[in-house]
Amino acid sequence: MTELRTLKVALLGCGNVGAQVARILLDDAEMLASRAGARLELAGIAVRNLDAPRDVELPRGLFTTDAETLVKDADLVIELMGGIEPARTLILTAMRNGACVVTGNKALVAKDGPTLHEEADKAGVQLSYEAAVAGAIPILRPIRDSLSGDRITRVLGIVNGTTNFILDQMDSTGAQFADALAEAQRLGYAEADPTADVEGHDAASKAAILASLSFHTRFSLDDVYCEGISSVTAADIAAAKDAGFVIKLLAIAEKLEATGGETSTEAADGNTGVSVRVHPTLLPREHPLAAVHGAFNAVFVEAENAGELMFYGQGAGGKPTASAVMGDLISAARSIVLGGPGRAETTTGQVVALPITSAVTSYYIGLDVADQPGVLAKIARLFAEHGVSIEIMRQTIHRDADSNVESAELRIVTHRASEAALAATVEAVKGLDVINSVTSVLRVEGV
Ligand code: HSE
Repeated sequence: MTELRTLKVALLGCGNVGAQVARILLDDAEMLASRAGARLELAGIAVRNLDAPRDVELPRGLFTTDAETLVKDADLVIELMGGIEPARTLILTAMRNGACVVTGNKALVAKDGPTLHEEADKAGVQLSYEAAVAGAIPILRPIRDSLSGDRITRVLGIVNGTTNFILDQMDSTGAQFADALAEAQRLGYAEADPTADVEGHDAASKAAILASLSFHTRFSLDDVYCEGISSVTAADIAAAKDAGFVIKLLAIAEKLEATGGETSTEAADGNTGVSVRVHPTLLPREHPLAAVHGAFNAVFVEAENAGELMFYGQGAGGKPTASAVMGDLISAARSIVLGGPGRAETTTGQVVALPITSAVTSYYIGLDVADQPGVLAKIARLFAEHGVSIEIMRQTIHRDADSNVESAELRIVTHRASEAALAATVEAVKGLDVINSVTSVLRVEGV
């Protein structure tokens, strides 16, 4: 048997994912060599603190604080430090020195993907980041490679496990957001500072990456409209449940074409391009994504020829995310063994990112209204004047025990219309004298 060549691997960062990657490189060396066609030698692990506790016992001699020297001598660099700097500079240095790079750094790829890709193209090396979106789930490679002969029309993703856990907890127990968040923190899903997860920033980075690969155009974080879940109340969840919906934080990327009609991917305002957004969304309880519970992730892809596909699995955690890193590493090693940079993403789509006002969605609107003649007519007239068609309207009467005054709770689900028209309708409804309050306004998908 011919002797396999050895490729030097530099690992940057040794948190819960990095430690598992190091363990796999050391424990599964024979298997990895047979898959890659080269021996993968862990040359070193760059960390900030040599004495920090690790999830896995690793040889002390592998550790260094000198990341710059480590990357300069590597064939393959795995960046799992997170953050923008020094990760960005180290990745660029590695590629300029001819190394292929595997990263799980969604924030960096979403913020500065174009620069990283340009450098990878210039250097003729592979840059891959499967671990950056939805942890263990193979989703970027299927979108980039398996579906490259098809046209993706829409991607709906539950790509943040923390928020899915919180919303699922609220749905199954009736808990308020703050209590569900505390439970997520107690179980270790949510961080002490949960902002990046609950305000949708983590999902927005992933949305930018999913949109870029799906629509063959480089989108950045600035192109993503983002709303988190901190304002979703137990009452919103209960009302949604009562109407047959579940609330999920979705990362959505969809192509909108001005073809004059009003189907699911046609822009209502004449704009064409891609709407990339993250927001709490009502989904019918029978939608496949509604069955994604706890901290799991799933991505639902619609393509012209493939139809509907769903990818499901663990979106975080040391071992699951390390699995995605190793897949990228083997692919990069094979590209070195076989010659050439391997498969890269294409950017020939050249579609523009549309503002949120161009998005086409349905709305769920909860209203507390006076129970008197003509109220429904006034509300319906405003919807009609704004060109928004009502799909479902349900009314429940409440009687205040003390005052004996009756009020009505109205729940309206609209047909799909432009976000601008829907927002203007809600503003106009708020101004009606018969409205006591607008109790919720949430976007709906999958109807
Ligand atoms: N914090 C993320 C989540 C995992 O809750 O899914 C890393 O992106």
